[in-house]
Amino acid sequence: MEKILVLDFGGQYSQLIARRVREHQVYAEIRPCDGITAREIKETGYKGIIFTGGPNSVYESGSPKCDPAVLALGIPVLGICYGAQLMAYLCGGEVSAASGASEYGRTPLMTADCRLFAGVPEESICWMSHTDQVTRLPEGFLALARTEKCENAAFADEGRGLYALQFHPEVTHTEYGRQMLENFLLDICGCSCDWQTDSFVKASIEKYRKELAGKRVLLALSGGVDSAVAAVLLHRAVGQNLTCVFVDHGLLRKNEGDLVETAFKEKFGMNLIRVDARERFLRKLQGVTEPERKRKIIGEEFIRVFEEEAKKLGSIEVLAQGTIYPDVIESGKGDSAVIKSHHNVGGLPERMSFSEIAEPLRELFKDEVRKVGTALGIPDELVYRQPFPGPGLAVRIIGAVTAERVKLLQDADAIFREEVDRLPVDERPDQYFAVLTDLKSVGVKGDARAYGSTVVLRAVDTEDFMTAQWSRLPFSVLEEVSGRITGEVPGISRVVYDITAKPPATVEWE
Ligand code: XMP
Repeated sequence: MEKILVLDFGGQYSQLIARRVREHQVYAEIRPCDGITAREIKETGYKGIIFTGGPNSVYESGSPKCDPAVLALGIPVLGICYGAQLMAYLCGGEVSAASGASEYGRTPLMTADCRLFAGVPEESICWMSHTDQVTRLPEGFLALARTEKCENAAFADEGRGLYALQFHPEVTHTEYGRQMLENFLLDICGCSCDWQTDSFVKASIEKYRKELAGKRVLLALSGGVDSAVAAVLLHRAVGQNLTCVFVDHGLLRKNEGDLVETAFKEKFGMNLIRVDARERFLRKLQGVTEPERKRKIIGEEFIRVFEEEAKKLGSIEVLAQGTIYPDVIESGKGDSAVIKSHHNVGGLPERMSFSEIAEPLRELFKDEVRKVGTALGIPDELVYRQPFPGPGLAVRIIGAVTAERVKLLQDADAIFREEVDRLPVDERPDQYFAVLTDLKSVGVKGDARAYGSTVVLRAVDTEDFMTAQWSRLPFSVLEEVSGRITGEVPGISRVVYDITAKPPATVEWE
């Protein structure tokens, strides 16, 4: 399989670079800059190497470096930002922090005619973020681009296949960044760009089949996309040596627990233990109304249940997790031993000892994980599942959580989702759900006065869930939902629609 090596010098965009390479259907592998020798690179047969950016200055003692022999392997190298400076430095050029020459943000760029810039106009916009710059090029290198403050915004020794960009081609603000990467991958490295999600699946299965041979593997299945995809992938690799524990806290959406069980047990024939912990969670939550307390109780109880189940299974060497790249950033980048402290899993306790951790999705972004899920044959209801908080419906029930109130919300929520799902896919909001408030109001049902609960419908359009707009759902949909909820769910006498953006509100109510 054709591969590009992304040598990580600690930059914040290392994963994004790998992702951009994969978008060109070339597989990219990230390794720490000092974690691979030139010989290993040669033997692996990488088609090209990308040096990432990084926060250091190359002339600082202790700044990250790689084996200089990497530049003499005859494999094309693209240095980006710090990576560009390092290339110049290792080849005998000069790098300095020219005062007043730092650039940050969108910057006009003038490019020369060369293989890396084929199809790039002479003037375009690039994204700069640097203090240091290359002030003298090494022998054999030519400047290929400049900005107002940076004479050597791009340079290369084309004969040796060494290219360097002071700016960031991987971020979308660099107008022709995509084209530049394509030129590097296709023309300069000669990649055939035939890597697909299927190839990732195949390669991962082979890798884990070898690495985990004869070992027992334990995975906490939450019903979410990530752990589901990790489970199916590892199941293909180790079969019945994988045991999945699905802690059913009873706070999932209507029928979701059954969906998870059916999909994994029946469709995939997995070794799945569904722990019915509904009573237990409700008991712990009794009388608790404060949102943070609810989250904490659920997180802790989850761990306790999981731990008890693990104990029953005897000694297991490997803990598998559905950690994806955004979680890696959240829980301490780069340290492969960090156990996911993500709120979904609650952070597994240190006293559970595993000699190995397997995280097959660690380098992927969410949309890539979904593609892998589809390639593995996981049903769309699970792969395209909306985000769902780890503490589940407990944080969508304002006030106390009781079995009756959970049921009320599940029923109302199911109606809302069912009606919205009648819309064509591209007209559906990015997230939509119901919230049960602790507000009662007067209504009339038939001839009788009803004093029932108020349900809120929440639907948002968003790119990244950091900011969100309330969705302009058609009135006809809202009308149908409202009529059905008040008609079909006894105990609910009023339905309201949340028209608050994020910020100032959050998506969830608690
Ligand atoms: P907020 O409410 O912070 O939510 O605007 C942003 C997005 O995150 C989801 N969310 C969670 N996801 N565990 C998760 O995995 C959680 O505890 C959690 N809390 C909120 C929320 O549904 C929305 O998509």
